[in-house]
Amino acid sequence: MDSGFALRRAAQTDAVFLGDMLVEAANWRAGGLRPRHEVLMSSEHRRYLAGWQRAADDGLVATELGGVPVGAAWYRMLPQNAPGFGFVGVAVPELIIGVHPLWRARGVGRSLLRGLIQLAASQGHARISLSVERDNFARNLYRAEGFAVVAEGATRDTMARRTA
Ligand SMILES: CC(C)(COP(=O)(O)OP(=O)(O)OC[C@H]1O[C@@H](n2cnc3c(N)ncnc32)[C@H](O)[C@@H]1OP(=O)(O)O)[C@@H](O)C(=O)NCCC(=O)NCCS
Repeated sequence: MDSGFALRRAAQTDAVFLGDMLVEAANWRAGGLRPRHEVLMSSEHRRYLAGWQRAADDGLVATELGGVPVGAAWYRMLPQNAPGFGFVGVAVPELIIGVHPLWRARGVGRSLLRGLIQLAASQGHARISLSVERDNFARNLYRAEGFAVVAEGATRDTMARRTA
């Protein structure tokens, strides 16, 4: 069956849409309504996108067949002295994922996740990590796709997997 979406490599010109998806990720909880500018300016979220697309940044955008973007997953390498929530080591990229609300639960997220793992492998990254709040169902998706918890925080877990 036609899934109704396709994946393409993220480009520098996708920065605004990636910002939209970062806001979705930050506001994942029902009723989460942090305004866009507040999320994108906050120190904890800004680091995942500021200056996109840096040399080691890479990602995928899911689009409707007409080309309209509906979701994205990307990764970025953050330094040890300014790590992300999901930092596991230098040279291990951390991923971020978001799907437009109208497109959720239709396989876009799983497809983006699988594609991003392959992309990371093709770029020579042996591992990839992420951070997820413990009550976010996305945790089950990550586990089903081979991620394991490597560190537990008070409310969020760091997960990682090998790319091959
Ligand atoms: C998490 C997210 C990226 C997943 O993308 P998606 O396109 O909705 O996911 P998929 O359709 O590929 O579904 C993946 C699995 O999650 C399950 N799932 C989807 N929506 C769900 C929901 N609301 N509650 C529980 N499970 C759900 C699906 O059933 C599927 O599992 P299954 O195939 O075994 O049934 C997307 O829902 C999203 O953007 N959420 C808000 C932002 C966010 O939480 N980002 C991650 C922060 S760490």
